[in-house]
Amino acid sequence: MTDQTSFTPGPLDRDATFYVAGHRGLVGSAIWRKLESEGFTNLIGATHSEVDLKDRPAVFDYVTGHKPKYLVLAAAKVGGILANNTYPVDFLTDNLQMQVNVLDAALEAGVERVLFLGSSCIYPALAPQPIKEEYLLTGHLESTNDAYAIAKIAGILHIQSVRRQYGLPWISAMPTNLYGPGDNFSPKGSHVLPAIIRRYEEAKISGADSVTNWGTGSPRREFLHVDDMAAASLHLMENYDGAAQVNVGTGSDVTIKEIAETVADVVGYTGETLWDTTKPDGTPQKLLDVSKLADAGWTSQIDLKDGITSTVDWYRAHVDTLRE
Ligand SMILES: NC(=O)c1ccc[n+]([C@@H]2O[C@H](COP(=O)([O-])OP(=O)(O)OC[C@H]3O[C@@H](n4cnc5c(N)ncnc54)[C@H](OP(=O)(O)O)[C@@H]3O)[C@@H](O)[C@H]2O)c1
Repeated sequence: MTDQTSFTPGPLDRDATFYVAGHRGLVGSAIWRKLESEGFTNLIGATHSEVDLKDRPAVFDYVTGHKPKYLVLAAAKVGGILANNTYPVDFLTDNLQMQVNVLDAALEAGVERVLFLGSSCIYPALAPQPIKEEYLLTGHLESTNDAYAIAKIAGILHIQSVRRQYGLPWISAMPTNLYGPGDNFSPKGSHVLPAIIRRYEEAKISGADSVTNWGTGSPRREFLHVDDMAAASLHLMENYDGAAQVNVGTGSDVTIKEIAETVADVVGYTGETLWDTTKPDGTPQKLLDVSKLADAGWTSQIDLKDGITSTVDWYRAHVDTLRE
């Protein structure tokens, strides 16, 4: 694949129009905060009810109307094992439609720099660890989220195809598990860390003797604070150009059991922890090789326990207004 683009590394134009698609979500809102703090003056975003990204004419009106110079696609249908396993059609078609609409509209509008977000869960289920970028499409997907993974892989191919056909410096990043302020704590749709935070906090408040978590607790997972993800996103947009997606993580992992212990400690829960081994564990280990990211000049900053502590603080402050 040829990889000739017009990209020159350096600071993005702080006064250019920058569209953050999904700016109310976990990642999008963190990217928005980061861009604001870095002096970007012309950020744009539309809520789901203002512009449904599955509505192709509405997306084209919005994007070609605003003609952003930069775009991060942080809107997606996202969820944990239960939601992915129960609604695979929605995870496949919503994500395909949103991506195709936004990326086609961005091409039409002449957006110079696009960052598309994949996810570490779309690598092969039994990929060697730590997972390098080139392992994508080298093995079977995790069956609980294969529909979501196929949609996301199509997005990465979409970016690579735009590079090949039009020579535009569009890129993709592959974040590990993210957490932080603005996360989805809903029992039906949340990922493992916010689900555990909510479970332990509610057990503490109700005085429950025990907390039951899904699976065996033995799978190893990597967690990155979303503010680190936002910083990495801007760094990549200013410094990286290549067809391969860039892994974004911390480079170290912990067991779900260790995460549960840390959350119990931070929350102040002193009861017993039980494990429901009838529930699926998912992939046994998921740790990204982050050497490409390090080569591009970025490493994570936020310590896991500090990040969990500030996320618990955020959860407590927003418990009455959490999304369901
Ligand atoms: N969270 C993670 O751990 C993680 C890990 C790796 C990669 N990622 C990637 O990061 C990206 C963002 O994830 P996230 O965790 O920030 O998800 P999120 O918190 O659920 O945010 C997704 C955003 O997309 C919006 N959205 C969904 N469907 C839409 C539609 N049809 N039209 C307009 N907006 C729509 C949502 O708005 P509504 O809520 O109003 O629908 C929400 O604001 C995704 O591509 C995901 O794959 C996330």
